[in-house]
Amino acid sequence: MKYLIKLIVAAALSFLSLSAQAQPANPYELPDPLRMEDGRTVRNKRQWINERRPELMEMFRSQMFGREPGPNAAPDMHFTVLEESHDAFGGLATRKQVKISFDKDENYYLVLLMYIPNNRKGPVPAFLGANFKGNHATTTDPAVLLPTPEKLATFAPGYKMEDRNANGHRWEYEYILKHGYAVATFCYNDVDPDFHDGFHNGIHQLIDGDKPRNGESWGSISAWAWGLSRCLDYLETVKEINAKKVAVIGHSRLGKTSLWAGATDQRFALVISNDSGCSGAAIARRKFGETVERICSSFPHWFCTNYTSYGGREEKMPWDQHELIAMIAPRPVYVASASEDSWADPVGEYYSLVGAASVYKLFGYDGITDREVPGIEQPVVVGRMGHHIRKGEHNVRLYDWEQYITFSDRFLK
Ligand code: GCU
Repeated sequence: MKYLIKLIVAAALSFLSLSAQAQPANPYELPDPLRMEDGRTVRNKRQWINERRPELMEMFRSQMFGREPGPNAAPDMHFTVLEESHDAFGGLATRKQVKISFDKDENYYLVLLMYIPNNRKGPVPAFLGANFKGNHATTTDPAVLLPTPEKLATFAPGYKMEDRNANGHRWEYEYILKHGYAVATFCYNDVDPDFHDGFHNGIHQLIDGDKPRNGESWGSISAWAWGLSRCLDYLETVKEINAKKVAVIGHSRLGKTSLWAGATDQRFALVISNDSGCSGAAIARRKFGETVERICSSFPHWFCTNYTSYGGREEKMPWDQHELIAMIAPRPVYVASASEDSWADPVGEYYSLVGAASVYKLFGYDGITDREVPGIEQPVVVGRMGHHIRKGEHNVRLYDWEQYITFSDRFLK
């Protein structure tokens, strides 16, 4: 009986995976990441680093995410420890809650929640990622501070104090800590509220003031990625953490953000995109699930306004999303999808790894090159690339963390 059930499950899984592969997508030809705009071929890593990578970064900045300010755009940034305790999760970890203020008067700030395993010999590697609903929504830990009512009032509508632990399943803190990693998170609304407020509410206002915006001005994803980098600035000051071994991670819109953070800030040692979909890991030219047109009309504030012009004409984009992955090379990168998440185009997410492999090769590292999309819950790690399709919905689950830890153990331990 058990065997029969197993067989039925296996058949169902392979059917799902086959139907995922057979889904009709727009036929397309990807731009070659190793071909310069002037037609020359990139032949070695020096040429990639000095010429092609900057050319691509310029494209992504001017046409998609906008130009982020430099790392010193908030010269008055300072850190205040709000709370610290050594007995989080029954003594498993040290908890620190730190206010990262971007201006002297602390009108603009985020609160970073951090757990560091107590069982450690020396500085530990860490995962850093933004969260959706507030730090209090990532855990049952009652000591995690609630956002202040003033702060909450600036968040996108729908965020509530009662959201404690609402997204706890996405943050497997105890599992992560037991595997020897620290973990740090902040609410993305702290950096820039996730609604189109004309960029008056978040970090854009502090840094740009009333400076007129243009087609290349930075959007919200760029702001969230900039926030991740400022958190890394802080982690560099924490002696219990090895800041050279920080993995940046994000889910969905925050997965798009972790990829862009990995591209813009090469201090991130490893990059994880969980269900990042359109404008994240998914190949735009496939036009499968969410399209450029759709995302620009639903979430115009995420990007620079130049991006809108590619809606419906993805084949005219001088880049595609595999080149976002390529800009992470030679650092390890992991792209994960979920079987029911067709809006994010799991197949297109996989193909962006395949499309970036030639750049990893330039650095002497293997990557994922098999054009056959792996089956559900058959994780694949080749060289410095990892991938899986979890069975189920658009979300982050323990299964995802299990793969991320196994992958990270290879590079960060
Ligand atoms: C919407 C959006 C996606 C995004 C997702 C999320 O579904 O269309 O692009 O990834 O929200 O962030 O949850």
